[in-house]
Amino acid sequence: MYKKNLSPDFFSKKHFFRIGFYKEEPQISVAGIYIVEIKNNLIDVKSLILKLQMPGLYLHIPFCTKACLYCDFHFSTLLATKTEMVNAICKEIELRKDYLGENKINTIYFGGGTPSLLNEKELNLIFETINKHFTVEENAEITLEANPDDLKKANLQILKSVGINRLSIGLQSFLEDELKWMNRTHTAKESVECVKIAQQAGFNNISVDLIYGSKFQTLQTWQAALKQIEELNVQHLSCYNLTVEEKTALGKLVELKKENEVDDDLSAQQFLYLSEWAKTSGFDHYEISNLGKENYFSRHNTSYWEGEYYLGLGPSAHSYNGNSRQWNVSNNTVYMKSISEEKSFSEKEMLDERKKFNEYVLTRLRTKWGIDPQYMSTHFKRQINIHFEKRAEIEMANRNLLRVKGNLVLSPQAKLFADRIAQNFFL
Ligand SMILES: C[S@@+](CC[C@H](N)C(=O)[O-])C[C@H]1O[C@@H](n2cnc3c(N)ncnc32)[C@H](O)[C@@H]1O
Ligand code: SF4
Repeated sequence: MYKKNLSPDFFSKKHFFRIGFYKEEPQISVAGIYIVEIKNNLIDVKSLILKLQMPGLYLHIPFCTKACLYCDFHFSTLLATKTEMVNAICKEIELRKDYLGENKINTIYFGGGTPSLLNEKELNLIFETINKHFTVEENAEITLEANPDDLKKANLQILKSVGINRLSIGLQSFLEDELKWMNRTHTAKESVECVKIAQQAGFNNISVDLIYGSKFQTLQTWQAALKQIEELNVQHLSCYNLTVEEKTALGKLVELKKENEVDDDLSAQQFLYLSEWAKTSGFDHYEISNLGKENYFSRHNTSYWEGEYYLGLGPSAHSYNGNSRQWNVSNNTVYMKSISEEKSFSEKEMLDERKKFNEYVLTRLRTKWGIDPQYMSTHFKRQINIHFEKRAEIEMANRNLLRVKGNLVLSPQAKLFADRIAQNFFL
């Protein structure tokens, strides 16, 4: 089930007193889930971390059959090294088994690239290695990103049998000419069919990805796509505004003026329609790009926005442990070679209070829960809180921010400029 946002109650005294002992000297005590500073018989909340960590594992599978026109995620089309890569990822699991401490794994996410290219043997090896080095929660959410053309009956049975309980399928579009333009490996007909076969195979937690804003997508075709989603009866939907990334084929075509930039006004209309559509179709638009039915929000992605720790495995994968972020090299050959020689394959950035604040504002403003003033006052210094309050006054006066149940959330119009508004807060 989806884990609720931390409520102010979480910080109430009853949680503090669970620690159950007092000492004269200031000290930090770790009592299972809470870290508390105790001074002169008074519990000082300033260093309270108060997080029951429910960490996640992210595994990046860096292979694709073909390169899509728009995509700048890390992948290679040289599939010959896939098994060697799986072995390297398993070695990384072993090398980094202590990164998340003793916490049980709450979510596992196979992203890519195209994780649906993994065969049974490769998947089994990965799960065996995970289970050897981590304790996975019994009801863990285990997601695999899949391309429609990989979702055949036999493959689906394999995915089920290894423990995948959530599929994220990259449909992207229901328009044949747009799929061709994108250089996708599937047709519109296959998009619809694969969801149905997955449902028949027993998958009852399915997310699909759509892209809006391209020259093929009018407001009418977008409305028709969302109607199609209703008929597919999926539990979750991610909708991404087409982004022209510099180093992609699309980026180069735009640079050469062979393709146009994305039409922002049309994208805005499509986004606003999506938000309105959600209200009548049983979806909750809980994050700018994500919509879910009740109890079907992505637990893995939500945990990123809630500051949970995660261990990212495979080339280009990122990790976070509360104090630092780490990212692996985005090169398959260098990654595999470094792993086999036990050399460093990642870079690290320590997160100071300024960076933590900027990240908190950026990620939380994208969600329907917004910024929690209680969290702000327990996690950030007074000066940062004063800066935040001043800025929030301005954004509220400009009608970009609203107060909802005490939290500060973006107004519907301001969601179109979420990142820009977050930047107004940056230190
Ligand atoms: C990294 S892909 C992996 C999923 C899978 N390989 C697939 O293509 O179906 C995750 C999602 O990011 C989205 N995406 C990738 N590049 C994008 C771009 N430039 N603009 C908008 N969405 C993009 C696509 O919707 C895609 O399904
Ligand atoms: S969108 Fe998916 S299939 Fe296409 S190149 Fe990116 S990761 Fe690969």
